Amino acid sequence: MIGAGLPGGADRNGPADGSTNGAPNGSTGERFLVTGALGCIGAWTVRTLVAGGTSVVAFDMAGDPKRLRLIMSERELAKVTFVRGDITDRDAIGRALDEHGITHLIHLAALQVPFARADPPLGALVNVVGTVNVLEAAKRHAGLRGPVVYTSSIGMFEAADADAADGRLHVDATAHPRTHYGVYKLANEGNARVYWLDDGLSSVGLRPLTVYGPGRDQGLTSGPTKAILAAVVGRPYRIAFGGRTLLQYAEDVARALIAAGRSGLTGARVFNLGGSLVGIDDLVATIERCVPEATGLVTHDPEPLPFPDAIDDAGIEAIGEVPVTPLDEAVRRTVEVFRRSLDRGSLVPEEHGLEPVATTS
Ligand SMILES: NC(=O)c1ccc[n+]([C@@H]2O[C@H](COP(=O)([O-])OP(=O)(O)OC[C@H]3O[C@@H](n4cnc5c(N)ncnc54)[C@H](O)[C@@H]3O)[C@@H](O)[C@H]2O)c1
Repeated sequence: MIGAGLPGGADRNGPADGSTNGAPNGSTGERFLVTGALGCIGAWTVRTLVAGGTSVVAFDMAGDPKRLRLIMSERELAKVTFVRGDITDRDAIGRALDEHGITHLIHLAALQVPFARADPPLGALVNVVGTVNVLEAAKRHAGLRGPVVYTSSIGMFEAADADAADGRLHVDATAHPRTHYGVYKLANEGNARVYWLDDGLSSVGLRPLTVYGPGRDQGLTSGPTKAILAAVVGRPYRIAFGGRTLLQYAEDVARALIAAGRSGLTGARVFNLGGSLVGIDDLVATIERCVPEATGLVTHDPEPLPFPDAIDDAGIEAIGEVPVTPLDEAVRRTVEVFRRSLDRGSLVPEEHGLEPVATTS
């Protein structure tokens, strides 16, 4: 049996008994709503808000809180109000904002590259129409105190969009997306800009590249985290890319999103998000240092990801502190989370992105 506040069969769950949910954060009156809260970045955002004593409503169409459970205790989970809903239902977000007295909105719900590639019309519906639904609901909701915060993506650029002179991707570079997903992200930035121009709705879009850490189990760039999990459970794993990429620890991304929500920035702002620029060789060596018994198990393909890797995050200081956990420390913490779950007997590697082990009959 999971905590009373956790998503189950019902469409909507109210506050858990005896928890601090049901009322906005006492000292500040803040109450965040996070869409896509059961995803990787969403789970870390919820966790970080709860750890800071902030009231949070977790909005997601999925019902399985497996990523939250990996990184939060039952006691912490009981403090979260869960709303099961679909951002393609144009009224669902508005209802949640009004009924829960939301003051801050972080929008993360989306279909990642492989899912958008498999079904482009559904991808457009969720990623573009869903985001317009969120912006429209935010416009109509009187109680918002800060900008709407959403994740755009470096994935909307191709490698050649980096500046030819210094090799870096500047924030105002022209995007030439090579995937439907990238086109959707570009459209979202445009729609956010028009909501500012037409309606005065402020927003901040952050563009991560390769997010890693516990809970990162699906999507084009989930290989680094799956490799860490494979090392912990002693299985071979091949990361499907090489070269170097900008790695962003999921907890750091969550902190940046929350800071953006509290920033008071106005306008339609967009920032590239910094992180650790790392060669995949170095990542593998770091995993082997943290899990020596897995030496030789993690390998990688040679081709780099088709995105710029050197990212110029100029201007992002406008949102406040943007933490970057060093690679060694982030890998060590990720290993710890997986090991703890393994020791508890609750780690099912297939639930966190690993392929089932092939059996021979
Ligand atoms: N992970 C990365 O490296 C990365 C990089 C750049 C941008 N982003 C963006 O950050 C956001 C979060 O990424 P993530 O890695 O946490 O993704 P994720 O796939 O782990 O989680 C996405 C969540 O959205 C929910 N969702 C999907 N469709 C929905 C709908 N119609 N209504 C309500 N909920 C829905 C899913 O159930 C899931 O819990 C996404 O917008 C993604 O495009 C991620």
